[in-house]
Amino acid sequence: MEIVHTPHAMTAWAQEQRHSGRRIGLVPTMGYLHAGHLSLVDEAKKNADAVAVSIFVNPTQFGPNEDFASYPRNAACDVALCREADVAAVFLPAPETMYAPDASVFVDEDVLCHGLCGASRPGHFKGVCTVVAKLFNIVLPDVAVFGQKDFQQAAIIRRMVRDLNFPVSIIIAPTLREPDGLAMSSRNAYLSTEERRQAVGLSRALDALMEGMPPSGTVLRHRMRDILEQHGLRVDYAEIVDAETLTPVEKISKGNVALIAAYCGTTRLIDNRVL
Ligand code: PAJ
Repeated sequence: MEIVHTPHAMTAWAQEQRHSGRRIGLVPTMGYLHAGHLSLVDEAKKNADAVAVSIFVNPTQFGPNEDFASYPRNAACDVALCREADVAAVFLPAPETMYAPDASVFVDEDVLCHGLCGASRPGHFKGVCTVVAKLFNIVLPDVAVFGQKDFQQAAIIRRMVRDLNFPVSIIIAPTLREPDGLAMSSRNAYLSTEERRQAVGLSRALDALMEGMPPSGTVLRHRMRDILEQHGLRVDYAEIVDAETLTPVEKISKGNVALIAAYCGTTRLIDNRVL
């Protein structure tokens, strides 16, 4: 397995793969890898000959008061997990090799990014789109795999690929969960024992949507909020939206998506379910 530290060397690796006729799969991550990330690697392996995992805590997608500095990091463990998973290359760029100090060009999706996570994290998706566009240009993947766990992110990246004609196929893979239903996340590492117990409220609120006849969006939103609050969680949003436009719906139909963001102590967690 190659461990690559600069964009230049990563592109050289990618060009060599392409010249040898190998299809490249990319799994972009911010590291602190868990089984959910590794399930994306498995999916990439099914669709490519050589899989690259990028590990980069991207500063531009964190707001000034967010957890960039404290975001969990463990490069040695991540590299070992990638080796076990038969990854071909790990891209671990030093931050100064990714952004010039005077970088002034960014990718800004301008419709899907305003609601949901975008409302409470202004600028977040601009940072995500910019770094993912850069990773596509650096790693030259034929296919890239993202998780449904970050539903809005996946929708925005699909839109970016469509609107900017990136020659890459996007695969969205299902969310891996802990035995009690909590979606796996690097941020679960922040939770105390008591918070970990409360956190199950997110998946419980989504489970409750499947009970009984689908009522109106308003009823379902209240149902989700009640369950989140019963678990001691502070609701950021609990929405039901159209899967393509991400706009709220009132009359529920198959394929609509329920999305939740809630604070468990100071940790903000998200989850979603396609209805
Ligand atoms: P990160 O949070 O590390 O997630 C990397 C990828 O793993 C994302 O596509 C995310 O949706 C997926 N993922 C996270 N938890 C998952 C789970 N429980 N099951 C399946 N997949 C899961 O998302 C990011 O990093 C960044 O925004 C990034 C796209 C790398 C850009 O910096």
